[in-house]
Amino acid sequence: MFDQPFDRTGTDSTKWATAEGRGGVIALGLADMDLPGPPAVAAALAARAAHPAYGYTRADPRGRELVADWYRARHRVGIDPDWVLLLPFSPRTALRLLLEALAPAGPVVLPTPEWGGFAEICRAAGLPLRELPLTPDEHGYRLPVEEFARSRPGAIVLSSPNNPTGRLWSRAEIRALAEIAAASGTGGVLLADELHGDLLHPDHGLHHPVAVDAAGDLARHTVTLNSVGKTFNASGIPSCFALVPDPVLRSRLTTLMAGFGLWEGGLLEQTVQQAALRDGGPWLDALVRHLVTVRERLTGVLGEAVVAVPQASFLLWLDAARLGLPAGDARAALLERCGLELSDGAAFGPAGRGRLRLNYAVPAPLLEQVVARLGRLETVTERAR
Ligand SMILES: Cc1ncc(COP(=O)(O)O)c(C=O)c1O
Repeated sequence: MFDQPFDRTGTDSTKWATAEGRGGVIALGLADMDLPGPPAVAAALAARAAHPAYGYTRADPRGRELVADWYRARHRVGIDPDWVLLLPFSPRTALRLLLEALAPAGPVVLPTPEWGGFAEICRAAGLPLRELPLTPDEHGYRLPVEEFARSRPGAIVLSSPNNPTGRLWSRAEIRALAEIAAASGTGGVLLADELHGDLLHPDHGLHHPVAVDAAGDLARHTVTLNSVGKTFNASGIPSCFALVPDPVLRSRLTTLMAGFGLWEGGLLEQTVQQAALRDGGPWLDALVRHLVTVRERLTGVLGEAVVAVPQASFLLWLDAARLGLPAGDARAALLERCGLELSDGAAFGPAGRGRLRLNYAVPAPLLEQVVARLGRLETVTERAR
């Protein structure tokens, strides 16, 4: 399935929109996959569309059970279905609403490099923000736990695993951050964005959902956000789900949502979410096997330019200087020399300067074209042969 070319022409793909019309540019930026989604999702959408009842649709309580089953089966974590909010809008919207509902009493603290949307959302919401550089280590990075403690956060926001590097955070690191958030008093929360957490590479360690430690008092100080959009390549039908153990925060969030005319459920959103969680497992297993093969090929070709070997997801964090590209303008230089469009590392916070992010969720034939083009860089030529 992932060895065949995948043509997105005519689908208005956002990622390819800027590349199209620029003579053969290959788009490797925005984080969605150039790979076909699960047949089970396509079948469920077709079946639902065949019934012409498209009126208001309530949130089906089975959706909560499916989320709990998923966390139990994939991560061996027990989730109370009552914690689950089934949200028919994008993770980005959910993060904004969650942060507004939290109304943190201190700064929102997050690491850098980190998915740039967190900082954008905080700025848009007028929330004070503090970005802490990740600590480089032999595997790429670890979390600067002591710095988090010193910064007295009102909330901590973390992509776990990390976008852009694909690093997994250890259980000890995650628990320490939850304790730091809790120590800041009422409302102190660790908001773990686990959008990339189901795309675990089977040859690496375990992902530790923050909910592992969401028992007892600490539970009220954790929130998880996840989405089938990233995992099952269905972000065009925006949906996500949040695990909110604190009933007070849950109710603040649903009240805030109602003020915008937003309720749990959604017709297409639930159709996609339920089909993916109920029947998408085998597709996902095949997908991550493919991603590992592509990761191995690219890390072999790119050598020292790879800052951290990903343990999850489909993103590769690269050092522009080691590719022989000018640190200040690496994205444009790579586009011009190789016709490859990557994401500029600066979009991932201050620690992203001089870096590039490459989305490697591509089918085998496109991978070989990418490798051939990377071979135009003198620093890569030998290894790309
Ligand atoms: C960690 C993380 N959180 C949130 C988002 C936002 O997802 P969306 O744009 O679908 O709302 C992304 C998108 O790349 C992401 O990587």
